[in-house]
Amino acid sequence: MTICTDSTPSLISPNIHSQQWEHPPVKLGILASGNGSNFEAIAQAIADKKLNAQIQVLIYNNPNAYAAKRANNWGVPTVLLNHRQYQQREELDRNIVATLEKYDTDLVIMAGWMRLVTPVLIDAFTDKIVNIHPSLLPSFKGIKAVEQALSTGVKITGCTVHLVCLEMDSGPILMQAAVPVLPDDTLATLHARIQIEEHRILPMAIALLVR
Ligand code: GAR
Repeated sequence: MTICTDSTPSLISPNIHSQQWEHPPVKLGILASGNGSNFEAIAQAIADKKLNAQIQVLIYNNPNAYAAKRANNWGVPTVLLNHRQYQQREELDRNIVATLEKYDTDLVIMAGWMRLVTPVLIDAFTDKIVNIHPSLLPSFKGIKAVEQALSTGVKITGCTVHLVCLEMDSGPILMQAAVPVLPDDTLATLHARIQIEEHRILPMAIALLVR
């Protein structure tokens, strides 16, 4: 089932400052599964005129994802595509592609998107899908990247922004930031420090890419 909420742009819409740029803003489609702090960082970078972009739509797959609330606050349309309601990954991806096309998306940003992608999505947006991952890739791929950094005892971890290809958490690296692992770090404290860097480099990497 697909639920769409097309909300009226608010006064703090990230789209309102785009006229200052020489070129039209790049149209982003953002995919998120959870909290959405990286969505927020992108929206804020646009509002701060650090990124010449416009968020066309937020697609989310978990009905309770806080990212959807954040999008509503910014006046960004949201579309719920609940993966539990699709038999196959390809079917979910076909709906994602149709939604991105409906919202006239140039560039897709996976901002905490916790689903594996299929060729359906990759082929529709070849070299136009960006992902943020909480490790220094190619180390610690997958959903337990921060836990693995702690359990293996590395002294430095970080985050990576990369172009998405079919293999999970792979593809050309656009930007990385290093974060030290402190002796008394927990999963929460380490992830929080990694996220500070994510919020800094994800909008920066998108800005470099679209330039
Ligand atoms: C981020 O730390 C992001 O790197 C990670 O999910 C978190 C989402 O946070 N993504 C992955 O692990 C993808 N493999 P957010 O919802 O607050 O943006």
